[in-house]
Amino acid sequence: MLEANRKVAAKFGIDLESIEKKVDTQENIGILGNDLTFIGVREKDRTKHVHRLHPYPGKFIPQLVEVFLKKYFKRGDTILDPFSCSGTALVEANVPGMNSIGIELSSFNVLIQKVKTKKYNILEVEKEIKDSLRRLRAFSKQLTTVNKHYLAIR
Ligand SMILES: C[S@@+](CC[C@H](N)C(=O)[O-])C[C@H]1O[C@@H](n2cnc3c(N)ncnc32)[C@H](O)[C@@H]1O
Repeated sequence: MLEANRKVAAKFGIDLESIEKKVDTQENIGILGNDLTFIGVREKDRTKHVHRLHPYPGKFIPQLVEVFLKKYFKRGDTILDPFSCSGTALVEANVPGMNSIGIELSSFNVLIQKVKTKKYNILEVEKEIKDSLRRLRAFSKQLTTVNKHYLAIR
């Protein structure tokens, strides 16, 4: 077990012995380079980049997927996730240049996957966000003005 993980487990009262009985962490580190418990990886780090767009609780830990992709696949390969959920494995495959195909039962999850794996024109996205903020501010100002007017005539 990694030292960082020991410290976090102690802090949160996690029973490491029972985990180590079920998982041969040293063997995992030897084969895969990580102990796969990811106890030391905080929620904000587990939900890196687009994974935080929607806090879907059923998703894989991205770092777990990363370990297996690095070990068994290379750039240009295609991976299939038959239960692709909110698309964690699909996104993690795309990061190092792998293709990914997902199959998912829930249409809401498919929507999340599509948003997370789509290619965007960043300048266009920035323009749209700024425009939305501008319209939101104008709407908010309009509401305040209407409210003041309403209070004045009462
Ligand atoms: C725990 S999630 C999988 C996590 C995902 N692989 C990831 O990368 O984050 C399991 C998903 O399987 C989906 N599912 C369950 N039964 C299914 C089926 N028969 N066909 C397709 N998807 C299914 C569920 O809707 C759920 O979103």
